Amino acid sequence: MATFRAFVAEKQDDRVDRGVRELSDDDLPEGDVTIRVAYSSVNYKDALATIPKGRVARISPLVPGVDLAGTVEGGDEEVVVHGYDLGVARHGGFAERARVPEDWVVPLPEGLSLEDAMTLGTAGFTAALSVHQLEARGLEPGDGPVLVLGATGGVGSVAVSILAARGYEVVAATGKDSEHDFLRELGAAEVIGREEVTAASDRALESERWAAAIDPVGGPATAYALRTTRYGGGVALSGLTGGTKLDTTVMPFILRGVALLGIDSVQTPIERRREIWQRLADELRPGGLELLRSEIGLDELEGALDTILAGKARGRTVVRL
Ligand SMILES: NC(=O)c1ccc[n+]([C@@H]2O[C@H](COP(=O)([O-])OP(=O)(O)OC[C@H]3O[C@@H](n4cnc5c(N)ncnc54)[C@H](OP(=O)(O)O)[C@@H]3O)[C@@H](O)[C@H]2O)c1
Repeated sequence: MATFRAFVAEKQDDRVDRGVRELSDDDLPEGDVTIRVAYSSVNYKDALATIPKGRVARISPLVPGVDLAGTVEGGDEEVVVHGYDLGVARHGGFAERARVPEDWVVPLPEGLSLEDAMTLGTAGFTAALSVHQLEARGLEPGDGPVLVLGATGGVGSVAVSILAARGYEVVAATGKDSEHDFLRELGAAEVIGREEVTAASDRALESERWAAAIDPVGGPATAYALRTTRYGGGVALSGLTGGTKLDTTVMPFILRGVALLGIDSVQTPIERRREIWQRLADELRPGGLELLRSEIGLDELEGALDTILAGKARGRTVVRL
């Protein structure tokens, strides 16, 4: 039987061994659709799946990779798969081959290449879902500045790019002083420092600044976004790189009608998932996919996982299979 290359994480007592191995189709889980994977990408959750205290991996050994794009075996249909149990409880995208249930499959939207699809990946889908939910609540370009937290990260950088392309005034908050030019190139009108958006405050409300906020960071930054979002605005919360605790009062909700919108990409029902991907190829398409993307091979993956875990990644890292 032919073999293929895969990056595997295997728990050994209190450590996790990581590296590239040869697997065969017998190692793949049951499923209706076998895919020749062309690209995967590096997401924060993938890094958590390869460390002892990450609480993400539910099987061992595991091929991580919560997203992939490739061609269905035996045909030429190009597809995207992400979320559900992929790269968590069944082998994921960091391998030349994958097998998944048919109802997890999203047809590659016209106008996106397989590489474009993974430049977006789970992070880009989450950014698009955040914009979609805020707009469903009434947000429109021209409403005023939209704050993007963790702006150089995967979700943040794609959000900056989507919003700028749609005509929003984007204010990007980052901890990386060296990346202000990158964020301006993506379309941010203004860049502010992380200290400003994570500072402790004993005030329940502060001056109303933001029409809305996109928040893949959590913790003190979410509390800041709630205190400073304008009357009727929304905060789309998707992540936890800044912490899982939320220290807020009820005031933003009951005095300003601010909404905290929970954003989950993992269990998004397949019909909604296919709709958001169509929109990502069209009216929610980010301005500069090539600006967002860097590309690596399987052999460089371990370093890239450490970089994202340290909060040092910039934009989106695509993994070429
Ligand atoms: N809900 C969902 O379905 C879903 C989907 C995708 C991702 N997520 C979550 O969203 C988060 C971002 O994922 P990602 O793949 O975009 O990761 P990422 O590329 O590492 O982006 C996270 C960014 O957060 C900022 N950050 C890091 N540490 C921080 C801290 N201590 N305080 C404040 N900001 C900090 C950094 O941006 P700056 O240096 O620019 O400040 C970092 O680049 C993760 O928690 C991930 O699990 C959730």
